[in-house]
Amino acid sequence: MSEIAISLKKISKCFQRYARPADRLKQLLFPGKSLAQKFWALRDLDLEVPKGQTLGIVGRNGSGKSTLLQIIAATLTPTTGAVEVQGRISALLELGSGFNPEFTGRQNVFFNGQLLGLSRRDIEDKFDDIAAFADIGDFLEQPVKTYSSGMFVRLAFAVATSAEPDILIVDEALSVGDEAFQRKCFARIQDIRDRGGTILFVSHAAATIVELCDRAILLDGGEMLLQGTPKFVVSKYQEFIYAPGDRVASLRQELRQANDKLLAETNLIIESKNIHLNGNLEEETPEFYDPSLNPENTISYISRGAKIINPGITTIATGQLVNHLIGRREYLYSYEVRFLRPAQNVRFGMLIKTVSGLELGGASYSLFFHEIVDFEAEQVVKVKFKFHCMLHPGVYFLNAGVSGMVDGEFVYLARCIDAAIFRVKSQEKSCGNGTIDFKIEPSLS
Ligand SMILES: Nc1ncnc2c1ncn2[C@@H]1O[C@H](COP(=O)(O)OP(=O)(O)OP(=O)(O)O)[C@@H](O)[C@H]1O
Ligand SMILES: [Mg+2]
Repeated sequence: MSEIAISLKKISKCFQRYARPADRLKQLLFPGKSLAQKFWALRDLDLEVPKGQTLGIVGRNGSGKSTLLQIIAATLTPTTGAVEVQGRISALLELGSGFNPEFTGRQNVFFNGQLLGLSRRDIEDKFDDIAAFADIGDFLEQPVKTYSSGMFVRLAFAVATSAEPDILIVDEALSVGDEAFQRKCFARIQDIRDRGGTILFVSHAAATIVELCDRAILLDGGEMLLQGTPKFVVSKYQEFIYAPGDRVASLRQELRQANDKLLAETNLIIESKNIHLNGNLEEETPEFYDPSLNPENTISYISRGAKIINPGITTIATGQLVNHLIGRREYLYSYEVRFLRPAQNVRFGMLIKTVSGLELGGASYSLFFHEIVDFEAEQVVKVKFKFHCMLHPGVYFLNAGVSGMVDGEFVYLARCIDAAIFRVKSQEKSCGNGTIDFKIEPSLS
């Protein structure tokens, strides 16, 4: 059992809201009768974050993300429920919190460092590092109110992380820093992770959540709709925010139900990481098809003139359907395409990705390189891509796509994200690691 860094039990937060600003004043003058409306920003939220986990939090504006982080950082008290936190927290909350605008940057470093539990001596020792990381030059001696939002976050992040926290909370803030600074921040977040720190991270940047986090949750209307792998949660979140208004309620219901299914995929990833670690010790087994290994969330883009059918991988020799592959062997990835209307200049595509969505490589089979004729309505073709499985043990996903000219416009006729999933095992003893198998052969002389 891993240790728990943060445990929330049945957390709710109710804010008082007033229909008109004048009501707030009236309430102060006549406290007897309540003019306030109750607004529940969080409702009955249960959450456990194991030590060492990086948790991503996504959700629309106003869904309760910042409220949740503030409750964990203890800058807000929940209306009901229990919060337990193990370890020292450092929080980078929404812009503006924690710094005194009239003080200089230098004064704020001391002021904030002490809030984070550092002694004056500690801060003096760390000051040069903090200043170097923030890299805002002479502005350090200016009042913080003269800072740009980027300068502000540079200093706030430098202080927050210098305290070597057990738990780091980052709310959105990094998005105002420039790219070079963001990269520096992520490197520092990685340091904290490597030291076994726990990280809570709110961001609207899907790619960042997928790259950085071990797990993600989706908040909506103060409720936790979904939790699971970052890739899955982010893809559902995007589907959710782009859904037409009349679909939102039913989608919300679907997401609640999808939550259960997710556990399976989460286990899959943990398993895949384990395979990575133990890959070389695996016993030799032939390739085979495991019906329970499914791409949980195949997303088919709305068809604009074609349909992708039966994507799958087969062995070259016997044509047997497989989803457990052996590294360094050759396979065929194929799918059928049924055209629903005439299409010209057709291209067929494939792409292999990691579990986190990183695109490893693919191909586009097109008119310019190959002689593909135009297609008629109701025509069905089978597209095959032979490939060399130069991957280390792990789980991988495949996309499929067909594009072409329809009515003079170049469009995706059909596209299937996560059309297939496969797992790779190694056959030969290999000293390689990472994702791609470069067939590395070390030697000594
Ligand atoms: N002090 C407050 N008084 C009244 N309502 C509040 C208060 N703070 C937050 N709220 C409300 O609670 C809800 C959740 O707010 P919160 O700031 O947690 O959302 P968020 O998910 O962080 O949104 P964003 O993506 O815009 O940062 C919102 O509807 C907000 O209006
Ligand atoms: Mg917020």
